[in-house]
This record gives sequence, structure tokens and C-alpha cells, in this order.
Amino acid sequence: MEIKIIKNENPKAKPDSNSLGFGKFFTDHMFIMDHDYENGWHNARIVPYGNLSLSPASTVLHYGEEIFEGMKAYLTEDGRIQLFRPYENAKRMNNSADRLCLPEIPEEDFVEAIKKLVEIDKDWIPTAKGTSLYIRPFLFGNDETLGVHTVHHSTFVIILSPVGSYYKEGLNPVKILIETEDVRAVRGGTGFAKCGGNYAASSRAGKKAEEKGYSQVLWLDGVERKYIEEVGAMNVMFKINGEVITPALLGSILPGITRKSCLEILKKEGIKATERLLSLEELTKAVENGTLEEAWGCGTAAVISPIGLIEVNGKKYEINNGKIGPVSQMLYDKITGIQTGKVKDEFGWTVEVK
Ligand code: PLP
Ligand code: COI
Repeated sequence: MEIKIIKNENPKAKPDSNSLGFGKFFTDHMFIMDHDYENGWHNARIVPYGNLSLSPASTVLHYGEEIFEGMKAYLTEDGRIQLFRPYENAKRMNNSADRLCLPEIPEEDFVEAIKKLVEIDKDWIPTAKGTSLYIRPFLFGNDETLGVHTVHHSTFVIILSPVGSYYKEGLNPVKILIETEDVRAVRGGTGFAKCGGNYAASSRAGKKAEEKGYSQVLWLDGVERKYIEEVGAMNVMFKINGEVITPALLGSILPGITRKSCLEILKKEGIKATERLLSLEELTKAVENGTLEEAWGCGTAAVISPIGLIEVNGKKYEINNGKIGPVSQMLYDKITGIQTGKVKDEFGWTVEVK
């Protein structure tokens, strides 16, 4: 893939690392590439970060044809830039593309585009503890027609954002509200794809949770509203009676890369971990009889986020006295350690930029 580069002649001032939050600041450049079925992928370019120009009839604006990924780049103490499992993101992006009939991107091109862009904006990688450069690749249908058809023209873009912690709580436990009315996804739908529409469907419950002072919603399955699925931007894991349980991937939840990494670490550490259906009833019983030892969410943005309290139908359940537990802490230390180069990457997960 040939990438044309147009340098930004007016670079911005970098934000202070204390003010980063999540996804508020953007770097000086972005990557763009176009696709249509006559030419395939073409016109790969890195250009100054700025607004996109779209037809008001563009498919994405009307029919939500959009998928995205989320990943991070880190600067190690010895000055190397590392990506975390980028080929997993490339694969998932293509699974999402398949579901929405958007064009797939060769994995090597996906990773190369990210590497080139990160290298150009490498001075934007923050180095304070808990910070990183968040990478947001996204792909959308961009035909100028209102007919509902398979997408013909598509646009792939990558933007970069220096970030701190996703939740204001940082690594302190968050409070989660279990949603019993709205559902996020059903099997056969788009739950396993990382598409914008899933987040649109989640927003009403998210607003309700936020207004009640909760960080996020915990979704139940869309058919019986009986089984635990995932949180708004994270997969979930529960340690019950010495065993880690996480909802199985049955098509309605996102196959998280952090989830997969946690399962691989748990296996290596000799901690039993099982992927299966977990009912809300089983979960609340485990809190009541004291066998629920720890709960946490896992995802790229938050890495590991301990869950200190869940509420369902007005009833509150405190978990581990509202404190972070040892397995959550171990997973956080291992994953962030590997990502930042402080812990040896015995899994071969990191990919160096250049
Ligand atoms: N589930 C949802 C709905 C998400 O948005 C995310 C975040 O990407 C995750 C799970 C976690 O996935 P990953 O670990 O690949 O970031
Ligand atoms: C991520 O963790 O990368 C996500 O995509 C979560 C997000 C929707 C902010």
C-alpha cells in the first residue's frame, strides 16, 4: 500500500497530561483511504487532522453503515512505541465489515496504516502513568443516494487521541446499573460487530444510568432478559467461589481483545476461568451468599475496571466491600505492564511501531 503524506504545517499545542480525560484531544494528522468496487482500496493518505466533507445524502448519515475499532499505542521507558495485539483489531474490524457488508481491509494494510500514522504523531503519545495514545480506526458507507442498497463507496479513517483514564474513578471501583427494559443486541443482530448502531441503541439506558450516578449499564440478553451480557464499553468477569466466570461469546456481545487477554493470563496463572451463560439470578444469589468475590469490566479504553456495586430494579448489591480485588489488580498490572514494556511480553502480544 502506498501512502501519500501531507504534513500539517500548523501543529497544535499538546494538552497537559492531567487534563486528558478520554477522547477530547486529537493529534495533528489522520489517515484516510477510499474504496469502491471498481478500484478496490485506493488513495491512501495521511493528511492534517480536520473535518471531513460528506454529501448530506451519505449512507452513514441515514442508515448507520459504520464500524470502528479501539486500540492504544504506548511509549516504553526505553523509547520504543508499542501497539497491543493490533492484528486482533484488524480481524475484528473485518468481521464487523462482513456483518455490515462493508469492504474488508487487508490486515497488513490496517496495521501498516496505524503504524505510519502513530509514527508521524509520536510526539503526542503521553507518558504519565495511566495515559496512552488511543487509536480509533473507523469505516463507513459513503454513497450519495437515499436508496437502501449495499454500500458501493466506503471511506476508512484513523484518528488518534492522547487519553488518560476512561472513567473518572480511574482504577477505583465503578458503579453499574443493570438495565431491565432496553436491550442492546440479540443473536443474529449486530451485537458481535463493533458498529456505531450498537452504541446508538444503548444511549437511552446509558443516559438513565448516568442520571442516577452510575458509570455504565450492564446489559441482559435481549430475548429472556435473564443472562448477563456485557457493559456499555467493556466485557465483564465475575469471580464466584474461586472461579472466574465470563459470559460466553454467543453472537450478541463484543468479542473483546482485553477479555481474550484476561482469559489467557488467567489460564497461565492457574486460575480457573469459564465462558458460559451466567444468569442475573445466579449473580445476585452469589452476592447474597457471599460467594461473589470480585467483579470487573475489561476493555481497551478502561483496561480493567473493578465493579464495586451493581443495582438492579432498585436493589443495590455491594461487591468486595466496594474495593478492588486481587485478581482485578493482577490483571491490570499484567496487561498494562506488557503494554508499557514494564512486564516481559511472554505472550508475544506487542507489536513495535518501526
Ligand atoms: N464491549 C463493548 C460494547 C465495547 O465497546 C468494548 C470496547 O471496545 C469492549 C466490550 C471491550 O473490547 P476490547 O477489549 O477489544 O476493547
Ligand atoms: C474501547 O474500549 O476501545 C471502546 O471502543 C470503548 C468505547 C466505545 C469508548
